[in-house]
Amino acid sequence: MEICILGATGLVGTELLALVERAWPDATLHLFASRSREISRAGATLTVRAASDLEGPDAPRGDLAFVALDDDHSAHYCPRLLELGYRVIDKSNTYRLDPHVPLVVAGVNHQEVREGVRLVANPNCTTIPLTLALAPIHRRWGLASVQVSTYQAISGAGATTLDDFLEQSKTGYAQPDRLGAPFDPSGYAANVVPHAGNTDATGFSSEELKLVRESRKILAAEGLDVSAQCCRVPVAVGHYEQLWLTTKRPTSLENLETLLADGARAPWVRVYRGASGQGLSSLAATEHRDEALAGRVRARLDDTTGTRYCMTVAADNLRLGAATNAVRVAASWFPSADAALASTPSS
Ligand SMILES: NC(=O)c1ccc[n+]([C@@H]2O[C@H](COP(=O)([O-])OP(=O)(O)OC[C@H]3O[C@@H](n4cnc5c(N)ncnc54)[C@H](OP(=O)(O)O)[C@@H]3O)[C@@H](O)[C@H]2O)c1
Repeated sequence: MEICILGATGLVGTELLALVERAWPDATLHLFASRSREISRAGATLTVRAASDLEGPDAPRGDLAFVALDDDHSAHYCPRLLELGYRVIDKSNTYRLDPHVPLVVAGVNHQEVREGVRLVANPNCTTIPLTLALAPIHRRWGLASVQVSTYQAISGAGATTLDDFLEQSKTGYAQPDRLGAPFDPSGYAANVVPHAGNTDATGFSSEELKLVRESRKILAAEGLDVSAQCCRVPVAVGHYEQLWLTTKRPTSLENLETLLADGARAPWVRVYRGASGQGLSSLAATEHRDEALAGRVRARLDDTTGTRYCMTVAADNLRLGAATNAVRVAASWFPSADAALASTPSS
């Protein structure tokens, strides 16, 4: 089996590389980034080639490609990879809302990865854990509405932004000021800022609209009343999401927690029972990197109908929110040697 990773030096690409070695240990890997170089991994030296080499006649043909590039470069390279015979999983936003391209979360709608499908879009890093937690509830009681507020880690913006954040945090916190004066009020270090990129005429940012539109597509619930507000928090890895949801049919707190704890009906969800959320945090998500952490399930104070609840979801944005889902989805085509990376928990 020949596997290609584009963006192999980035935050998501690095995670993909580690997971691909576990899922398909005998595969031949072709690694690409913006320029050629050698990288060290677990004592071995790996060759990374310039992605532009894929445009030439000697470009390697193969079976499976993971693309972890920005939107423009994905749009440029995905068609070429398909031409070279690869089945492609794209991590970017480019194809997510294309009606001809399945947008897939393993454990929710992986049935859409049929034999004839050659290109699959991987959802946004907040959408994957959100839909893993919502899908079982939607199947069992129906969802009438979902409001979500996200608190997103800096690594969601890529390696360069993460490195800048770590450097600014180190420098800023080294200065003896308790009120934050050493920090830039428009920067990420020591700050909470709107996730406001590409805010359009609706007043919502692209990140907020992704969460809304992708959730509807994955849950096959075009009319679902979803709204989102997103911000970035000064955390390196691990996204945290607060939800207010209304079910169509009544249920109870106990039923909700029991459903989410059932691995067959709620795959890859780790439940934290009880209202206080003891143990549930964004850093806990980096210990359980391939699961959506769900908890703090509570009935709304004003609920008299058994349909209105609050809950919290957290996940490692680089793993469950990106690389793990991509590998599990690809395992629908090429079975994984590692059961934790199979397309369904039981397979
Ligand atoms: N970070 C997350 O939490 C997350 C989660 C879900 C989805 N995603 C999506 O996944 C994709 C990758 O994100 P990331 O966080 O891994 O980004 P990143 O850390 O910035 O890595 C970007 C990768 O793209 C490569 N690249 C840059 N310019 C290129 C060019 N001209 N030609 C070919 N390769 C080029 C880089 O190679 P060099 O090292 O050579 O520059 C690097 O390997 C994005 O679409 C992002 O939206 C990210």
